[in-house]
Amino acid sequence: MKQIEVKLQRQNQDYSILIANSLLSNEDLINSTVKERQVCIVSNQNIYDLYAEKIKNGLKNRQIIEVILPEGEEYKNISSWGKILDAMMQNRFARDSAILALGGGVIGDLAGFAAASFQRGVAVYQVPTSLLAQVDSSIGGKTGVNHELGKNMIGAFWQPKAVLIDPEVLRTLPEREFTAGMGEVIKYGLINNLEFFKYLEENFQAINNKNPEHLAKIITTSAQAKVDIVQADEFEGGKRALLNLGHTFGHALETLGNYTLYKHGEAVAIGIRIAAELAAIEQKISDESRKRICQILTNFNLPISYQNKFQVEDIYQAMFADKKVRAGKLRLVKFREFCNCEVSADSKEKDILEAINLAK
Ligand code: GLY
Repeated sequence: MKQIEVKLQRQNQDYSILIANSLLSNEDLINSTVKERQVCIVSNQNIYDLYAEKIKNGLKNRQIIEVILPEGEEYKNISSWGKILDAMMQNRFARDSAILALGGGVIGDLAGFAAASFQRGVAVYQVPTSLLAQVDSSIGGKTGVNHELGKNMIGAFWQPKAVLIDPEVLRTLPEREFTAGMGEVIKYGLINNLEFFKYLEENFQAINNKNPEHLAKIITTSAQAKVDIVQADEFEGGKRALLNLGHTFGHALETLGNYTLYKHGEAVAIGIRIAAELAAIEQKISDESRKRICQILTNFNLPISYQNKFQVEDIYQAMFADKKVRAGKLRLVKFREFCNCEVSADSKEKDILEAINLAK
């Protein structure tokens, strides 16, 4: 088993990320990790049917309730959040209860936000079952829901008590979900890790074929990269914003598509391409590097163009519903050079519009 420790500034907030094949069948491990007597499992029906029994075998002698939510980013909203709280209230859950998020990024964000708000905060355990959740969203304590006018605009920082990752569950993950998760994996190479980027370039076929050794490598490398950044900047005062490469563009596309058109990782991939176009316009990266970025996204079957029903100006305007906006000014994650990013507000509006236009 691989174990990554997350060490935070606030006392008693440290936690472990445990990564192992068949981890969900390890009853002793589940039993000793989840200490609370009352546990609310939040999941989607498909994932619940596949994995909940295994988890429950490790949670003997607990009061367990289940909240099964419909699948999809469009359900990451206040109404689904309320359903979790309703169930916990109706079953008299106490302040020393826990929520266990069994699912992908939507479930993790919803369950985490419910845990942050129920009785001003109860324990949450993240059991991510999608690649995107395993490499990114289950780690680092960002929780929340979408608003119809902006993605992730309502939420809280609320760290999990533990993150339990079983790479074997990716075998049952729909192909489109796997592909979307690769958008976030590629991001780690592009923000500050040229070596990892080259590894992804060289091994894309084996990764697409879900070779177990390569899956283990991309999950542990990505999780460690995320932990390094979260430890340095838990509340996104600075460096953590780097994890948002492509996200300001991507979130705008998700919002304009009513959270149904694009998977988060797909929208991020298009956003990464727009960031690459902007960097080429601003002469931060060469045209060859720009092409390399498009190529790796394509090699992992990710989209690099948005549907041309969207207008450049509408995408630009939607980008302002972003948590990095300060004093009405966009702040973007930009390439300082290839595989080296920074957060900056210095792009000209006309260059941003041109970059968006190039990804049509
Ligand atoms: N997914 C970006 C972050 O956790 O900061």
